[in-house]
Amino acid sequence: MPLENTNPTTTEAWKKLKAHYDLNRDLNLKSLFSSNEARAKKFSLSWNDFFLDYSKNRITEETFELLLELAEQTGLEQAIKSYFEGDPINQTEGRAVLHTALRAGKDDEILVDGINVIPEVYSVREKIRVFTDSVISGEKKGYTGKAFTDVVNIGIGGSDLGPAMVAEALKFYKNHLRTHFVSNVDGDHVHEILKELHPETTLFVVVSKTFTTQETLSNALTIKKWFLKHASEADIASHFAAVSTNTEKIAEFGIAEQNVFPMWDWVGGRFSLWSAVGLSIALAVGYKNFASLLEGANGMDMHFRSASFDQNMPVILALLSVWYNNFHGAETEAIIPYTQYLSRFSAYLQQGIMESNGKSVDRAGHRVPYETGTIIWGEPGTNSQHAFFQLIHQGTKLIPTDFIGFKESLHGDEDHHNKLMANFFAQTEALMNGKTEDEVLSELKAAGMSEEQLNSLLPFKVFEGNKPTNTLLIDKLTPKSLGTLIALYEHKIFVQGVVWNIFSYDQWGVELGKQLASNILKEITSSEKGNHDASTLQLLQYFKK
Ligand code: F6P
Repeated sequence: MPLENTNPTTTEAWKKLKAHYDLNRDLNLKSLFSSNEARAKKFSLSWNDFFLDYSKNRITEETFELLLELAEQTGLEQAIKSYFEGDPINQTEGRAVLHTALRAGKDDEILVDGINVIPEVYSVREKIRVFTDSVISGEKKGYTGKAFTDVVNIGIGGSDLGPAMVAEALKFYKNHLRTHFVSNVDGDHVHEILKELHPETTLFVVVSKTFTTQETLSNALTIKKWFLKHASEADIASHFAAVSTNTEKIAEFGIAEQNVFPMWDWVGGRFSLWSAVGLSIALAVGYKNFASLLEGANGMDMHFRSASFDQNMPVILALLSVWYNNFHGAETEAIIPYTQYLSRFSAYLQQGIMESNGKSVDRAGHRVPYETGTIIWGEPGTNSQHAFFQLIHQGTKLIPTDFIGFKESLHGDEDHHNKLMANFFAQTEALMNGKTEDEVLSELKAAGMSEEQLNSLLPFKVFEGNKPTNTLLIDKLTPKSLGTLIALYEHKIFVQGVVWNIFSYDQWGVELGKQLASNILKEITSSEKGNHDASTLQLLQYFKK
């Protein structure tokens, strides 16, 4: 069934939310807590090894109820059904959206065009297992008979960000293979990486859903050329693997059939790390850990499908984000993981969230008269505290922030972990409470400051507070919990797309730049002159001079 086409602003819930916002725009978090002892309990949720506290948000019970009504009135229940059952909800491309099938159970049945895709998913998973086991064990060897030491993932966007983020996040679980990621068409990127490699012991994985992406093909060709300086054409078969839906193009590139890992058009690039696109993850941490990652995601899928909306983590996070984006006028959201392992998490989510929900046309083809996709950014804490937190605390913008932390550290250094987590808790508390004039005054007085100094410093030292945060506390960073965490945000993306009445699974916006770049390349490399605006012409002339 296609997704419903409801302009959210026409629903009763939206109208009520608007009126409710007008009456409650000055809600103060500190007062909300002092007037309701049960608030923390009411607005938190424990599920498996995940604990979500969303009580530090500018909401009342009524706000929450109205947001849930909005989800109902925009057809979320049916949309979730259509999503999981493989209906072609990516309507502009006529495709199902089934990254969830990649982590479904072996006995599940998910039909695409009347055919159950699960057996095929599992046969590719088995191929990944056999391949990665043989590389990791050293049984599979390079052209001079040596075992592999390095793996290079060549891909961009969803064919790079997911594997790169997960390989970094699961570094603790890594085996001896060194993993590298080449993505940018900037030749300096690939040449810097080549400096670290030895052709005899390096395995290259070319990942491209379409196998037509300029960046990936250029990098793959440059690497192939470098490889052939040392080895023969026949050796490509043992050093190159490919992941794609485009088997024809892979054959043209010369990659041996046994090293080709298929994927399907019902897997969107930015949601593809669960497919063979995750081959370099499986190589880095072993198939068992890769399977745990998928199992964790499947757990979140089941939670999302079955939990009532008021107990449903992705639904709650999505609706809170709608509340700030559409009613409070917040434009950005920060995501701050308190673990260095998740240093690539926000960059990964930037593609997931902004490529999916960065749309301005609704499902009826009309320009939306309301805000859609939020701008996502973030870096791990505590580093980010010493970089941009000043603006979140005392700047003029409202930036709802997700704090993600873990009860246990991986290396078990209690002293460090306690300090890290003390910061984690302190920040959300400080963001909420701020510091009042009275507090600043008594602090400055206690420091022995004169009346005059005190009055001149006072305005700068006051923190308004009342900054909303979500706190996600997870037992431990494992392949499984990471899978769960990623799937949580994937479903948040889905819910927001449903509420905003947009198509979240295409990305036409990226196409225009690609087309223009290929025209301009011809002009750069020949005497051809294109039709450009005066600024672009001037820049091209300056570049070519
Ligand atoms: O940026 C546009 C995009 O199509 C992404 O959605 C995708 O992840 C990326 O390019 C790479 O595409 P491919 O895997 O086909 O090379």
